[in-house]
Amino acid sequence: MKDVIRVGILGLGVVGSGAVRTLQENGEAIARKIGAPIVIKRIAVRNLVAKRAVEVPAGVLTNVASDVIDDPEIDVVCELIGGVEPAHSYLMRALDNGKSVVTANKEMMAKAGHDLLLKAHEAHRDFLFEGSVGGGIPIIQPLKQALAGNRVREIMGIVNGTTNYILTKMATEGADFGDVLKEAQAHGYAESDPTADIEGYDAQYKTSILASIAFNSQIDPADIPVEGITKITRKDMGMADLLGYTIKLLGIGQADDAGLRVRVHPALLPKRHPLASVNDVYNAIYVRAEPVGDVMFYGRGAGSGPTGSAVVGDIIEIGRNILAGGTGRLGCTCFDSRSLLPMSSLVTKYYVRLRTHDRPKVLASVANVFGDFDVSLESVEQRPQSDDSVDIVLLTHRTIEQNMMSALDVLGRLPTVIAVEGWIRVEK
Ligand SMILES: NC(=O)c1ccc[n+]([C@@H]2O[C@H](COP(=O)([O-])OP(=O)(O)OC[C@H]3O[C@@H](n4cnc5c(N)ncnc54)[C@H](OP(=O)(O)O)[C@@H]3O)[C@@H](O)[C@H]2O)c1
Repeated sequence: MKDVIRVGILGLGVVGSGAVRTLQENGEAIARKIGAPIVIKRIAVRNLVAKRAVEVPAGVLTNVASDVIDDPEIDVVCELIGGVEPAHSYLMRALDNGKSVVTANKEMMAKAGHDLLLKAHEAHRDFLFEGSVGGGIPIIQPLKQALAGNRVREIMGIVNGTTNYILTKMATEGADFGDVLKEAQAHGYAESDPTADIEGYDAQYKTSILASIAFNSQIDPADIPVEGITKITRKDMGMADLLGYTIKLLGIGQADDAGLRVRVHPALLPKRHPLASVNDVYNAIYVRAEPVGDVMFYGRGAGSGPTGSAVVGDIIEIGRNILAGGTGRLGCTCFDSRSLLPMSSLVTKYYVRLRTHDRPKVLASVANVFGDFDVSLESVEQRPQSDDSVDIVLLTHRTIEQNMMSALDVLGRLPTVIAVEGWIRVEK
């Protein structure tokens, strides 16, 4: 009978420090909750002399990963180094060595998590990854446990804090994308290379993890169409506001009888939608399922404390399973292989902003093109500009994406249209 759970950690950066601090500060209460202490036996880093945000006892730090992975006394290995390799190989080896594993690594989970889950299943070990989506927000365990009796129809999330911060600032301060990005970098909310955030790739990884669990199908991130927020302008933000919407970067998964639609893109959301009031660096994931109805999970989607909290929650869950002699309960749930429907067949509403010449019959020529492609219009606003041009802002009714793209293509070549300056999908 075990009387202590020994943990080995790979990485002592932002998340590693948060997890270690939580285990240090709340260790006594955690031990009473699960019936045995959780002891950090070894922590592997690259640089042994770097300054750390937490103090660890002498002899715990090592710069040799195998001191963690191959230590026979360690029960749980937490991978908090990031990237696909060597993280993936390290966890494979830890599972081969009979350990249960935890990670917060969304990129590795999205690109290569499936075989780790299968290996954990074969080895009757647990593999938990709550910190990989939504930082401190519990979403993976709720989907796999409390909501497991449901049929998920839709999962929609604001899963990237950097882009939500930028879009919130643009909306509330009327600021330009580039200026807010610089400010976000100065505050440490955006990386010096912000590509993964602003182009939507980070949200793409997280959406692939969420949709794979929600729809019990392995969804490759490379198959998820992605658009970032770089095309969103101050003008679009202002127009969306006037029309009763806000603009958010969304990771969306929807299931119907035809198949699955999974995508990442900015969208106009009505201000009354629960996700519309999720601002700044906060994240939220909204789930519509039967029979539960609508539920929303909200909180800090990144950072040392929040993500450390998720990692420690996973360690505790595994600790309980080890003490109860029941590891391997929390395995892969991707038993289906439902196909993804192409983006061209999506049916949704669209916001479009055109710059046109200020001449008679321009609006009629634009409306004719939409009519030719069966796109019906819900509202049209004309805004004369100082340079003798007009901004035409339209909202369409629900229409097929392929028709919409064809209409925009023809509009872009119409002599009366100077430019199709922007178009954004509208979600309900
Ligand atoms: N930061 C967040 O808010 C957040 C939120 C959710 C999920 N995550 C995920 O959590 C993971 C860790 O992120 P982080 O922000 O904590 O990263 P980080 O601050 O850069 O820390 C990475 C740590 O890993 C160590 N490391 C890197 N390569 C290593 C190797 N080959 N062997 C041993 N140690 C190695 C580094 O050692 P040195 O310190 O010696 O360089 C460092 O301590 C990533 O997968 C990330 O996507 C992060």
